[in-house]
Amino acid sequence: MSATPLAQLLLLGQGTDLASERGVSCTGDLPEASDPTLVARATAAKKALGSKVLVLGHHYQRDEVIQFADITGDSFKLAQAAAAQSEAEYIIFCGVHFMAESADILTGPHQKVILPDLAAGCSMADMATAAQVEQCWQDLEKLGVARKTVPVTYMNSSAAIKSFTGEHGGTICTSSNAEKTLRWAFEKAEKVIFLPDQHLGRNTAVNDLGLTLEDCVVWNPWKPQGGLTENEIKDAKMILWRGHCSVHGRFTKASIDEFRVRIPEINIIVHPECQNEVVSAADYVGSTEKIIKTVSEAAPGTQWAVGTELNLVSRLAAANPDKEVYFLDRTVCYCSTMNRIDLPHLVWALESLVSGKVVNEIKVDSETARYSKMALEQMLAL
Ligand code: 13P
Ligand code: SF4
Repeated sequence: MSATPLAQLLLLGQGTDLASERGVSCTGDLPEASDPTLVARATAAKKALGSKVLVLGHHYQRDEVIQFADITGDSFKLAQAAAAQSEAEYIIFCGVHFMAESADILTGPHQKVILPDLAAGCSMADMATAAQVEQCWQDLEKLGVARKTVPVTYMNSSAAIKSFTGEHGGTICTSSNAEKTLRWAFEKAEKVIFLPDQHLGRNTAVNDLGLTLEDCVVWNPWKPQGGLTENEIKDAKMILWRGHCSVHGRFTKASIDEFRVRIPEINIIVHPECQNEVVSAADYVGSTEKIIKTVSEAAPGTQWAVGTELNLVSRLAAANPDKEVYFLDRTVCYCSTMNRIDLPHLVWALESLVSGKVVNEIKVDSETARYSKMALEQMLAL
């Protein structure tokens, strides 16, 4: 599916994918997007590779890519899929950089993980750098708070931040298991530092665990001591990193209110990366996998407004012709970095493998992988 001209315009301003830091992805070998043989080429290359290749596709990927995925899922399901299978020599990850890093950490040394476009980062993951998180932890140590605090880090983070989490006895969470991981963390410690999505952290703490908004403070990595006073830090139960998703953060309560006026019987379902007032005003909240399940299993004739990425919502609408499925806010656009993985990049990655060349391999260094793996395995064990 290609973006509408308006969406394309909006995409230009969205996200900070730090592509330049990750290197240039393709050096001119990409097939033209207009090449009418792309589907046939991808099919042939996949067939030639057989069981040597496994294509994983996140739900936010384009239709043209998702049709070639062996497994589709949310980030939790795809991490489980990567950890569970050891046969495929090559895993082509159609998703974003942090997901491919996690797959590399969870797969065996004989397996290679490929991200078809290295510019497919995640603006939220880029909002917490390892140096900023180290500085924050040092500040918490100085105040005597670190020893009472356990880190819980959202999957949408770099391997370096996951490694920090493992090193300090914490765990990773995804939007499918954030409640379970937070409960686990509060059994271990008085306080949690939640990285890097403030919204998922706040929504889970307040709406699922019953903490108050006042129990949560926001750590701004650009300000000394996170922009907080000593007392604010000492009194807080949840220290939320100042990060957010540039897609989900744009949904508003006003769109929910408009829908309720226009269609009183509407069901509103949103992703927990949305702001707290949006999540609190919705009827249902859940990971991408849960959103798909809830709408698919709903009674025929029901009406749904969905607040998550547009590729997923469009496919959900097409797969549920017996229901009315709307996109919650037409001013919100595709995830620009997820959309960087397109059919030309997938064909390039597949055909390169057929010719014996591994392109865009994602490799996490062994020191970083060691602690990240501890934190990821802690999550999978929960
Ligand atoms: P899920 O954990 O629901 O797959 O979400 C991943 C993501 O990037 C959401 O923005
Ligand atoms: Fe990152 Fe948001 Fe895109 Fe998910 S939708 S990959 S959190 S920018």
